[in-house]
Amino acid sequence: MSFITGSTYDDSLTSTYNPHGPVLTSFLMCAPTLYDVTYVINPWMAGNVHSSSREKAAEQWRHLYEAVTQLADVVLVEPLPGLPDMVFTANAGLERDGTVVLSRFFHPERQGEEPHFRRWFQQAGYKVVSLPRETPFEGEGDALFAKDGSCLWAGYGQRTHPASHTVLREAWKIEVASLHLIDPRFYHLDTCFAPLDGGYVMYYPQAFDGASVKKIEAFYPERKRLIVAEADAVRFACNVINVGRTVILNKVSGELGGQLRSKGFQVVEVALSEFLKAGGAAKCLVMGLSGAID
Ligand code: ARG
Repeated sequence: MSFITGSTYDDSLTSTYNPHGPVLTSFLMCAPTLYDVTYVINPWMAGNVHSSSREKAAEQWRHLYEAVTQLADVVLVEPLPGLPDMVFTANAGLERDGTVVLSRFFHPERQGEEPHFRRWFQQAGYKVVSLPRETPFEGEGDALFAKDGSCLWAGYGQRTHPASHTVLREAWKIEVASLHLIDPRFYHLDTCFAPLDGGYVMYYPQAFDGASVKKIEAFYPERKRLIVAEADAVRFACNVINVGRTVILNKVSGELGGQLRSKGFQVVEVALSEFLKAGGAAKCLVMGLSGAID
């Protein structure tokens, strides 16, 4: 692929088995039994400390869990006391082909999750790659494979340090396309960018600097871009779980839902208001696992 000469994207790759692509077999999730907003590490959490209902969160999470199990297997990790953001398993790390690059959280509030996720992946048989504390990396929250497997989109500028991108490139011998996040509301790449099946991409351009938008546009031709307006972006519309032609996401506008349907997607909306209070939605609550363990 090339970011300079335009997209070489082949649509046929995503709908059929692609040995080089990120073939997911399951998702890692963590039940919200101990979920709460107890600190403020992003703008969404401000004013929301202890404002979420655990009962409502449990019900919303169960709806999400049920929607995900229609499409893939779900593996669960135990929630632990004092780690209320563990529900956002997208931040555990990034996995592909049996190798996990573990997260190194930027904020001390989440660093306590690291040894637990490490143990979980080790016990499950994954090869675990660690980063030094000086180079924060927040897992699948900030790194998303292109659906054709040809490159890894990686965010930096809010949580993840760009130096970690080199480690990602080495871990999978893959081209890493770094994207600069400039809006604190969209502090993880998966809050404003989603590669979708069929060579589509959904994104909120204002969350990126100009050079990053150019990279996205060089890879995805215009007819494949779903540009999300601010009103939907702040409802975490880009934070989608996509398996085949199904997308699972928080409630979005009728317009965006219609746009997705017109591109052939089945749209499953799950209300996730309690998790928005911590700055997360559908995609943050899962981590994709390829199941490729030796
Ligand atoms: N409160 C969590 C944080 O600020 C939310 C994480 C959302 N996860 C995501 N993948 N965007 O770290």
